[in-house]
Amino acid sequence: MSPEHSSGRLRLGVNVDHVATIRNARGGRHPDPLRAALLAAAAGADGITAHLREDRRHISDDDIARLAAGIPLPLNFEMAATEEMIALALRIRPNACCLVPEKRTELTTEGGLDVAAMQPTLAPQVARLRAAGIRVSLFVDPEEGQLAAARAIGADICELHTGAYCEAEGDRRQQELLRLVGAAQQGAAVGLEMHAGHGLDFATVGAVAAIPQLVELNIGHFLVGEAVFTGLEAAIGKMRALMDAARAEATAKEGRQ
Ligand code: PXP
Repeated sequence: MSPEHSSGRLRLGVNVDHVATIRNARGGRHPDPLRAALLAAAAGADGITAHLREDRRHISDDDIARLAAGIPLPLNFEMAATEEMIALALRIRPNACCLVPEKRTELTTEGGLDVAAMQPTLAPQVARLRAAGIRVSLFVDPEEGQLAAARAIGADICELHTGAYCEAEGDRRQQELLRLVGAAQQGAAVGLEMHAGHGLDFATVGAVAAIPQLVELNIGHFLVGEAVFTGLEAAIGKMRALMDAARAEATAKEGRQ
């Protein structure tokens, strides 16, 4: 059984990119994303995610190497589907690679990969990573066509982009939640391991954690921001508790029906 399935609980992947953002505001080594990752492990994280962007705006090559060598948890290496990044991943051999679209001008990952359109390029990249024993995750919008395409090219995992759900308000948020629910069901039904993330905070995490097909959530920016006020361990501990409570409540409700 892979480490992703051994605990049975909803996994929390902590993204440490923005620890590096703060460090880079002044240069030097403080605060160190590896130290944050070790604290996250102690606070109940199940994995660490880091995105080495093409422009190296936060995580650096040295950070990735130090995280890969120094954390007691699986490393989820988030990256663009470029030859440079594939070569790096094959050298570092993280537990998983999460392929994301990347634009130099964007503030953050704005949408999912268009797997359906990129199949001819992505398929050999997915195959090379998998042949090296690296699990491959594709970051997609919650759309059936993207999930089917991801499955067709042999991805192990799809991570659903939760940004539209987190940004929406009122009825619109409920509609976006239903899209996530439907996509999680569709992905799991075709054999994909389903993850979700982007923009989640204490207010938005519960409804997503309650989706039974999801096995992992990846959360970064909010946790690092909250750490300014409460410390990283407390922020992660509270997120973990909210996820566990929402999942337990959903499971109990399912049992009563
Ligand atoms: N998952 C993926 C694929 C992402 O690109 C990001 C943002 O880097 C996250 C999760 C985490 O998003 P946030 O930092 O908004 O929690």
